Amino acid sequence: MEGRLALEGCLLILFGATGDLAFRKLLPALYQLEKNKQLGSDFAVIAVSRKNYSTEEYLNRSREAVKRHIEREFDTALWEQLKKRIHYQQLDFTKERDYDALNKTLKDLDEVIKADGNRLFYLATSPKYFEVITGYIKSKDLYNENRGWKRLMVEKPFGRDLSSARELNQALTRVFNEEEIFRVDHYLMKEMVQNLIMIRAGNQIFEPTWNREHIDHVQIISMESEGVGARGEYYDQSGALRDMVQNHMLQMLALTAVELPGNLTADNLREEKIKILESLIPLKKDSIREQMVLGQYAGYREENGVQQDSSAETFAAIRVFLNHPRWIGVPFYLKTGKGLTEKAARIVIQYRLPIGSCCVGEMKAIEYPNRLTINIQPREGVVLSFNTKEPGTLNTLVPVNMDFCQNCLIGMNTPEAYEKLLSDAINGDQTSFTHWKEVEASWKWSDILTDWTDKNPDTVRTYSKGSGGPQEAEDLIEREPGRKWI
Ligand code: BG6
Repeated sequence: MEGRLALEGCLLILFGATGDLAFRKLLPALYQLEKNKQLGSDFAVIAVSRKNYSTEEYLNRSREAVKRHIEREFDTALWEQLKKRIHYQQLDFTKERDYDALNKTLKDLDEVIKADGNRLFYLATSPKYFEVITGYIKSKDLYNENRGWKRLMVEKPFGRDLSSARELNQALTRVFNEEEIFRVDHYLMKEMVQNLIMIRAGNQIFEPTWNREHIDHVQIISMESEGVGARGEYYDQSGALRDMVQNHMLQMLALTAVELPGNLTADNLREEKIKILESLIPLKKDSIREQMVLGQYAGYREENGVQQDSSAETFAAIRVFLNHPRWIGVPFYLKTGKGLTEKAARIVIQYRLPIGSCCVGEMKAIEYPNRLTINIQPREGVVLSFNTKEPGTLNTLVPVNMDFCQNCLIGMNTPEAYEKLLSDAINGDQTSFTHWKEVEASWKWSDILTDWTDKNPDTVRTYSKGSGGPQEAEDLIEREPGRKWI
């Protein structure tokens, strides 16, 4: 496909190949890369899992999964092409000798396809295996120090607090250096999240006003209508703060607030994002109640894998400030939750009202602020709200929208997040992966909230499924005049 990069040859070693992520996201993404003709003859996948499947059985399951999860018509000929690249290897993650067999498969395959020793290890397993697998990758020589490159892709959660994240990072960095570790936050791959930086950099009307002088507040919202589904056991230990806020929500905040570097390289942008995350003002324990609202949807405790007396939060709304010259005094409101009215994610920049009054003749204050809304999903696009004279009146202002719907124009060609994740990692581009220092700063800030929440389960309010979340979340933002969740 035009404009898409051909990918470097390598062996992709996919640990956790029979898991939900592999079937739902990674295999469909590979199918799409095949379709885009981005995969060369020097690319192969070694699907690794504990399940006792033959390659044929695995491929049958994979075909069904791809069929189910691609949004387009399934192309059998294309699948036949892709399946030649996929080899299944049964392996118990904790059994040393299983890695010898894997090593042999890798060496043999490399001989055949000539991947030049390039190895991309993808950890799509339960996090409890991350350390043991990387340990064996090193001790069992699953890569060649003198030939080709080695890289590691790690799924979230990256630890469950700062100290476990540090431990995990130490374990990974015994084998891979920072430039070789690709920490996945799939929100960073969403087309409109990436577009945020380009909209700012590419338009003179936004960047000069992107600051405390002109912006009243920012809203960062990611809502889901579904409940926890089959992931109750994991989610119950995690809650919305660990599952969404520490990573996706703070990453969107960082990209919204970041200083744009003169030279927009991956390293420069990540340096600037680190500064934003390090400038998050920690919430004070005695005022957390006024800054954060937590909720749990009614019926959550009946979900599979969830404790009957669980106080895990399925909803969080938080008011955040940054200690950063551009943003002093500007609140960033974060809102995320499951079991809400709709599935949608957006970032809203609400400008201050113009000073003075608007109109000829009778003096009237302007009521409607300008707003820039970046719609991330399901609709992708940008809406600019501004004021105009109501036709036929002398001085009545009405708010109107300039509405750019990106997916209406580009439709299905927008690459899916996991397609980009894989292609960026294979091509060694770290721009949209999180640096250890970002993870560290996010946990440092979030730890205060999760500790407090663990000690104050009574603050978690029940809300009905399909609603907008607890009423207190509305109060959190409406406390200030002119503010309302969009
Ligand atoms: C994941 C969370 O990281 O993101 C899930 O673990 C959540 O709980 C999901 O549902 C949301 O992602 P998306 O792309 O569907 O908004």
